[in-house]
Amino acid sequence: MSLWAKHRILEKNSILLLIGVLIVIAIGGLVEIVPLFYLKSTIERVSGVRPYTPLELAGRNIYIREGCYNCHSQMIRPLRDEVERYGHYSLAAESMYDRPFQWGSKRTGPDLARVGGKYSDEWHRDHFNSPKSVVPGSIMPAYPWLARTELPYAHIENDLKVQAHLGVPYTPEMIQNAKADLRAQATTDSPDADTLVKRYPKTQARDFDGNPQRITEADALIAYLQHLGTHVDFKLYDNKANIR
Ligand code: HEC
Repeated sequence: MSLWAKHRILEKNSILLLIGVLIVIAIGGLVEIVPLFYLKSTIERVSGVRPYTPLELAGRNIYIREGCYNCHSQMIRPLRDEVERYGHYSLAAESMYDRPFQWGSKRTGPDLARVGGKYSDEWHRDHFNSPKSVVPGSIMPAYPWLARTELPYAHIENDLKVQAHLGVPYTPEMIQNAKADLRAQATTDSPDADTLVKRYPKTQARDFDGNPQRITEADALIAYLQHLGTHVDFKLYDNKANIR
């Protein structure tokens, strides 16, 4: 019997064909999946990426609470138009401490993966109070209560603990000092600022909301936005020796 004749048996018998298809897919699946069990991590570690500071984490919680992800993505795809508009495409490692991740697929507004450092804190403040005051054609809703509302951070240790439980490498020391670290980042000239930066390298500590008397939700959210996408030094990254 020729090969074609043998194949015809498969083509004429749907059950046999189905079994054949399943066997071929199973082989393909195993080839793809089995090697993953032998890798310690599927994410390339990149120097500079660190867990969120307590203040940034509180800001991230507000970002999620307000549903910013409904209009903003945080993933720059490796396509030319995106890279030219937003900067270097996102690396998997840059969201390795995001639980849950904020990649998103809906862009009513621009991608925010590298918005850190793009604008001043003052710009963000005005933008939250009234987006049209800084971008006349903006359709973004205003969030004027952020700057008025005191940041509730009595339970920030618990937030860190939950993240640690999910695999973010927060040390007991970081959890213990969460409140002090949060205050140190949101105020200027805090005596704890040095230890904060030691614990969380490249942390920007200042009065983000322009109101040194209070720590508001705007402090937290702006600290979070100003940190987005700023940790990886891509000049180092392009030199392969720095990939651990
Ligand atoms: C209904 C959709 C919508 C929601 C919800 C929304 N935005 Fe926006 N956002 C936009 C649009 C549209 C723009 C572009 C116009 C502008 O800059 O105001 C924008 C712009 C921005 C920018 C400037 C980005 C850049 O690169 O110029 C930031 C930062 C931002 N939004 C943050 C937020 C945050 C934080 C939240 C949640 C508190 C939020 N947005 C919620 C639609 C939205």
